[in-house]
Amino acid sequence: MTFSGLRSLVLLVLLNNSLSQLEDICLEMSRLNWLDLEGNRIEAVGNVTFGSCNMLTVLVLQRNRISHLYKHAFSPLQKLGELDLSNNKIQRIPEDLFVDLGELLQLNISYNPIVEFQMDHFDNLHKLKSLSIEGIEIGNIQRRMFEPLKNLTHIYFKKFQYCGYAPHVRSCKPNTDGISSLEDLLANIVLRVFVWVVSATTCFGNIFVIAMRSYIRSENKLHAMCIISLCCADGLMGVYLFVIGAFDLKFRGEYNHHAQAWMDSAECQVVGALAMLSTEVSVMLLTYLTLEKYVCIVYPFQYIAPRRGRTVSVLVSIWVLGFTIAFFPLIGKGLFRNFYGTNGVCFPLHSEQPETMGAQVYSIVIFLGLNLVAFLIIVISYGSMFYNIQRTGTRAKEYSNHIKKEVTIAKRFFSIVITDSLCWIPIFVLKILSLMQVEIPGTISSWVVIFILPINSALNPILYTLTTRPFKETILQVWDNYRQRRSLSSIQQSAYTPSFTWLEMWPQQDPPQAEMSCTLGKSHLLPMESTNGT
Ligand SMILES: *[C@@H]1O[C@H](CO)[C@@H](O)[C@H](O)[C@H]1NC(C)=O
Ligand SMILES: *[C@@H]1O[C@H](CO)[C@@H](O)[C@H](O)[C@H]1NC(C)=O
Ligand SMILES: *[C@@H]1O[C@H](CO)[C@@H](O)[C@H](O)[C@H]1NC(C)=O
Repeated sequence: MTFSGLRSLVLLVLLNNSLSQLEDICLEMSRLNWLDLEGNRIEAVGNVTFGSCNMLTVLVLQRNRISHLYKHAFSPLQKLGELDLSNNKIQRIPEDLFVDLGELLQLNISYNPIVEFQMDHFDNLHKLKSLSIEGIEIGNIQRRMFEPLKNLTHIYFKKFQYCGYAPHVRSCKPNTDGISSLEDLLANIVLRVFVWVVSATTCFGNIFVIAMRSYIRSENKLHAMCIISLCCADGLMGVYLFVIGAFDLKFRGEYNHHAQAWMDSAECQVVGALAMLSTEVSVMLLTYLTLEKYVCIVYPFQYIAPRRGRTVSVLVSIWVLGFTIAFFPLIGKGLFRNFYGTNGVCFPLHSEQPETMGAQVYSIVIFLGLNLVAFLIIVISYGSMFYNIQRTGTRAKEYSNHIKKEVTIAKRFFSIVITDSLCWIPIFVLKILSLMQVEIPGTISSWVVIFILPINSALNPILYTLTTRPFKETILQVWDNYRQRRSLSSIQQSAYTPSFTWLEMWPQQDPPQAEMSCTLGKSHLLPMESTNGT
């Protein structure tokens, strides 16, 4: 193709033709200013293609098939202000491709299968205002790449996470990953408020139960030990949310300046590991408590009350296992890269960055292996306990009493299983979807981390202590004592009796040691319920 006689042409648009070869296109059009070759079949840009185009200011090569670029292909274009190479097949940008483009204001290299960028690719683009690298995975992204671009005001990436590497750029797209935005660690105002509410509830509930349990002398030390353990684990979730809330406050309005440092920081890693520790220990403890209850209700005669040694060793192994699970990814950096720091909330449920093979397998084993098995054990055990109690219950003499009993059991059963399901089913679904390569919006993940994940931690104190019969009885007793004391003290000044006794057995009977833990198990299953029938 020739363009002889077009010496004074300024603008040339050859849209959607089938040009595939270009030989010094400007030779005959030395004043060409604007060249739009969008949607052709150009495969290579060689050393002579734009050899004479030294007046060109806009060059559009969008939607071609360029896979090969000569390293000084654009060097003659001293005045180029806008270069669009998007939607081509460029895999590698030659080292010095942009070195002579000092006047460039806009560069678009989006949607190319580029595998790697060099640190100094953009170094000479002093005037660049807009850089578009959409649709490209930048595995080796570094701050250094964009630092020389002092005048850059707009940058377009594939992922929000990359914005953290160009903190000086005013406008970065995409501007949120659903969890964080350029301004805030927690993008959503509701999340910002609720991170404190949930954190306070969780911390308060668990600390309250720990305090009560150790303040009031407990009859069953072993069970109390399990519950305190559970509260400690659940309390860690409150601590985790508290730290996230605190850093959200700290970074308010300028998160993007700190994003990368925050996600790489030791704080983020440790806090993420704490959340992991909390969920895993909590899950394992709930499973243990459930199994214990199950064995004692379904096989009441074979059941042997746990010895101190066994309970302690089970608790210790649960905690050791929990610590191992949570902190192992921090040790194996090579295998996991940054396991926790893949998003602002430091919990490995949502990641825009591709996970390493190790990290992927690990989170599947934990979230879909361990947790799913634990969840199934809990559901099946409670189901079978419920069935069992119902079956024995039908033999009860008083019918109305029986109905009442069943309703209470059902309520308790459903509240335990439903909170567990509420907490874990969304996480299983999320993990399965991400296994199936479904894109999960970050918004969903952030709500899961702030609302769903802590549900168990916030409600466990209520389910396993505050609504149970022994607890209510203690409260009633304390209240009675208080009232008595008041009426007494009005008569007799010095009437003081130490009144706190933790009634963790049934007042009507004196169970032998072996049955105690079992009645205990039932006491948690049947709040305010009499066991005269057994
Ligand atoms: C372009 O490259 C060819 C060989 O690939 C070479 O012979 C030619 O001299 C080069 N032209 C310019 C202007 O650099
Ligand atoms: C860069 O190119 C892509 C694809 O052609 C387009 O969608 C995008 O809007 C361009 N970016 C800018 C900043 O013009
Ligand atoms: C940025 O742009 C301004 C004018 O827009 C210019 O004066 C300044 O030299 C540029 N900065 C650099 C580092 O080139």
